[in-house]
Amino acid sequence: GAEVVINDSSSPAVVDRSNESIKHNIKPASSKWRHNQTLSLKIRKQILKFLDAEKDISVLKGTLKPGDIIHYVFDRDSTMNVSQNLYELLPRTSPLKGKQFPTCAIVGNSGVLLSSGCGPEIDAHSFVIRCNLAPVQEYSQDVGMKTDLVTMNPSVIQRAFEDLVNETWREKLLQRLHSLNGSILWIPAFMAKGGKERVEWVNELILKHHINVRTAYPSLRLLHAVRGYWLTNKVHIKRPTTGLLMYTLATRFCNQIYLYGFWPFPLDQNQNPVKYHYYDSLKYGYTSQASPHTMPLEFKALKTLHQQGALKLTVGECD
Ligand code: CTP
Repeated sequence: GAEVVINDSSSPAVVDRSNESIKHNIKPASSKWRHNQTLSLKIRKQILKFLDAEKDISVLKGTLKPGDIIHYVFDRDSTMNVSQNLYELLPRTSPLKGKQFPTCAIVGNSGVLLSSGCGPEIDAHSFVIRCNLAPVQEYSQDVGMKTDLVTMNPSVIQRAFEDLVNETWREKLLQRLHSLNGSILWIPAFMAKGGKERVEWVNELILKHHINVRTAYPSLRLLHAVRGYWLTNKVHIKRPTTGLLMYTLATRFCNQIYLYGFWPFPLDQNQNPVKYHYYDSLKYGYTSQASPHTMPLEFKALKTLHQQGALKLTVGECD
């Protein structure tokens, strides 16, 4: 397998609030980082043993019909019915079918992006992935605007759009969706039971307003497959974050992968405070003690890959 051996089975349950950032020092972008093509290909091959991004990125129309019953991945005892709207929005073929990109950017949501000036560099990549409908317009200098794929956990509707309580919030979401302008909107609809109505609201809006997005709903096996891959590399992740899922998927269709906005620590490399998100006031550890994410552990794994040249992490200013 790939030489990614990260031995740390202690899984901190919350985002690390200590001075971890010191340990995680990454050399400035100007210092020599070289892409390791051999390792990247090796990792792609190894991940393909667990999942195939082309297939697992979305359930396809041919495999479901309205009325089918689905058990949630994390809440096995709860089920949902495939609605007519959801069925209509399932893609006929994989949105990534046959795709290969020379370079991809995956943009995480850490406040480390603020004042980075990374916008133009991010937008220069051939494929740009963003997470959880994070706003771009007001932050374009630091995060860029180009969006080829954006994820949307159902919880975003609650957190960032007030569960669409009134017209103002509905309008806000509509605007954001309209601005996606043909990109892929990736909605994990089958993961946790809590998001049922939220997914339906979004589906309804997209259809009613003829919004130009290509919807995708990750396969039921994706999460387990991703966890399985990382487990065999000794990275014990309870529930991979969106960011790690995106990296794992991207290995299939991106030659070089560049990560921005991945920094799950409250202080930057110069010991200045960093916001959890670049665009809101969510705090570190907003997730409870029971949080299934182990972001610092994931970060450690990504950092090792950075040092090996399999991906490039940018955690400071862009040149
Ligand atoms: N991220 C990070 N450091 C932060 C915040 C986010 O590395 N301070 C990365 C994580 O990989 C995360 C991704 O950026 O999955 C997107 O951020 P966010 O929308 O905050 O994801 P969460 O809601 O925290 O977690 P998830 O959607 O993965 O459940």
